[in-house]
Amino acid sequence: MKQLDQEEFRQQMKEKTACIEERLKSVLPQEQSLQRTVFRAMEYSVMAGGKRLRPMLMRESYELFGGGEEEVIGLFMAAMEMIHTYSLVHDDLPAMDNDDYRRGKETTHKVFGEDMGILAGDALLNYAYETALRGAGKAAEPQNALKALRILSGKSGVYGMVGGQVVDVELTGKPLSEEQLEFIYRLKTGALLEASLMAGAALAGADDGNIACMEEIGRNIGMAFQIRDDILDVEGTREELGKPIGSDAKNEKRTYVSVYGIEKAKQAVEEYSVRALECLGNLSVESAYLNTLIKELVSRKK
Ligand code: FPP
Ligand code: MG
Repeated sequence: MKQLDQEEFRQQMKEKTACIEERLKSVLPQEQSLQRTVFRAMEYSVMAGGKRLRPMLMRESYELFGGGEEEVIGLFMAAMEMIHTYSLVHDDLPAMDNDDYRRGKETTHKVFGEDMGILAGDALLNYAYETALRGAGKAAEPQNALKALRILSGKSGVYGMVGGQVVDVELTGKPLSEEQLEFIYRLKTGALLEASLMAGAALAGADDGNIACMEEIGRNIGMAFQIRDDILDVEGTREELGKPIGSDAKNEKRTYVSVYGIEKAKQAVEEYSVRALECLGNLSVESAYLNTLIKELVSRKK
């Protein structure tokens, strides 16, 4: 399986991230009209940094299956990152995790007030679909775009991320079965990673079999990613994470680490990412960057 060396990977990641950020900025509303406070809060939330992992996965998957419409994929990538950002803004609200810092900055509701935090999240979610629909309108094959939209909306909603968050909120402070823990992780974190890979493939015209493979890869990456998140909440540093550690314990959250211990958690991250790489290896197409990215997620520090 092709891999990039560290140096080359870092360089490419930097360029890809910069490209995504430029695109995001250009898509966000900029007018100085009466509702400009919400525009500012949207921009603050989206441009606060972040790994841009979801749009990155979407583009890699798109290119893997031969997609070449830059504007279309760019708009869908921006939409994906807006959905992710809205979920973080709402997750940080006092009614949910009540967190004051994210990505090294004060959270949106701390800066703009709780009312604007709620509205900026709502606005980002809606604007995400406005943006994806703009992309769909430019696609040469509208049925591929329709499939991508169906994936994006389904994986974000009650059968996806929102559903996972509901169970997470409801079971906070309560003992969790293995099944419940996996359900929460698969939906609240896995669903958007699955959607990114699947929608990229769908937009490029991949067939349903290949889209299902991308879903399985996303599911494994999602589990590995969320368990790594739990580990970092215990072992990470505030400087690297951009937020205080120990948030799960503060919120009485049962996590993979608190249920199974840190060693088993590390083992699980390794196993899930090996499984993701195996699925990736079964495809007839290959991307050295994507292979390396998945490998790197296991040891991420932020
Ligand atoms: C951090 O992503 C986010 C997660 C690990 C997912 C957690 C899931 C939620 C917060 C769901 C919330 C849902 C609702 C409906 C409120 P990341 O490390 O990629 O963050 P980054 O973009 O800052 O790098
Ligand atoms: Mg949370």
